[in-house]
Amino acid sequence: MGKRNNSESGVIMFTSAKGGSGCSFMVNSISSCLALKTTANILLLDMNIGKRDSRTAFDVDEQAARDFGDIEEIVKDMDTQVLRKLVLNLESSLNIILPPLKMDRTGILKKENLNIFIECLRDHFDIILVDMPYYLFSYIDMVEVDIADRIVFVTLPDIYSVSNCRILMNHIEYIRPGIDRYMVVNKYNIRASISPTGLANILKYPVTAFIPYDRDIEFLVQTRGPFQMFNYNLRIVKSIKDLSMKIYEELWQ
Ligand SMILES: Nc1ncnc2c1ncn2[C@@H]1O[C@H](COP(=O)(O)OP(=O)(O)OP(=O)(O)O)[C@@H](O)[C@H]1O
Ligand SMILES: [Mg+2]
Repeated sequence: MGKRNNSESGVIMFTSAKGGSGCSFMVNSISSCLALKTTANILLLDMNIGKRDSRTAFDVDEQAARDFGDIEEIVKDMDTQVLRKLVLNLESSLNIILPPLKMDRTGILKKENLNIFIECLRDHFDIILVDMPYYLFSYIDMVEVDIADRIVFVTLPDIYSVSNCRILMNHIEYIRPGIDRYMVVNKYNIRASISPTGLANILKYPVTAFIPYDRDIEFLVQTRGPFQMFNYNLRIVKSIKDLSMKIYEELWQ
C-alpha cells in the first residue's frame, strides 16, 4: 500500500446493465494489466456482495481472506491499520478488496460509510478500479456518494444488452452529468446480432473499444488467472492492453 504518485487518485467504475456481459472479466484484466505495466499503486474493489468471482479469478484462499463486510461496524474509524488488514496483495503488487459472501452484510453501502471508505482508499491508492453490479445504482445515491471519477460501461453487442446499457447510461447522465465515460463492446465477434449502425443508433455514444471473445483466453483466465494472458500475443490481449493504457493516460488529463 502507499501512493506512488502525488496526483489525485482516480476512481474508475466498471459496470454493465446485463449479467454476464464481461464486466468482471474487463475490470480484472485491466487491473492486472495496469499493475503489470505501470508503477501506479492499483486497487481492485469488487462490490459484488454474495459472489465469489474475484476469489476464483485470483485464486484467493476463502478462509483466510477478509472482506469489506468485516469493517461495516468500524468504517467510521477507518485508518491505515484497518485498511492493511482488509487489502490483499496479489501478483505484480495488484491489491484487491473482496466483497462479503454473506448477502446481508451491506452496511458499507450506507452513504456516509461509503464516502468514508472511498475517501480512505483515495488516500492510499493511485488508481481504484471498482467492479460495480448495476443493481447497486438503485441502492446507492450517486449524487451523495463520491464513488467514481470515470465510468466504463461494458455491453455485449446484442439488442437487449445495448438497450439496457442505454438506460443505465441515461440514469448516470441524470445523476452525474458530464462524468467521463468509456463504452466497451465485448465479444463483438460472436454476438453480432446487431449491426454497427443499429448499435450506434441505440447507444448514441462513441464506442471506445471492441473486445473480441477468445475461447482460449477464457479458459486460461479461469484456470490460471487474468495475469497470464499478458504472456500471449493475441488480438484480445492487444485490445485489452490498448484500452488499459488509454484509461491510464487519460486519468490525470
Ligand atoms: N472477451 C472475452 N473473452 C473471453 N472470455 C470472456 C470475455 N469476456 C468475458 N469472458 C468470460 O465470460 C464469462 C462472463 O463474464 P463475466 O463474469 O466477466 O461477466 P459479468 O458481466 O461480470 O457477469 P455478472 O453479471 O455475473 O457479474 C466469464 O467466464 C468470463 O471469463
Ligand atoms: Mg461480474
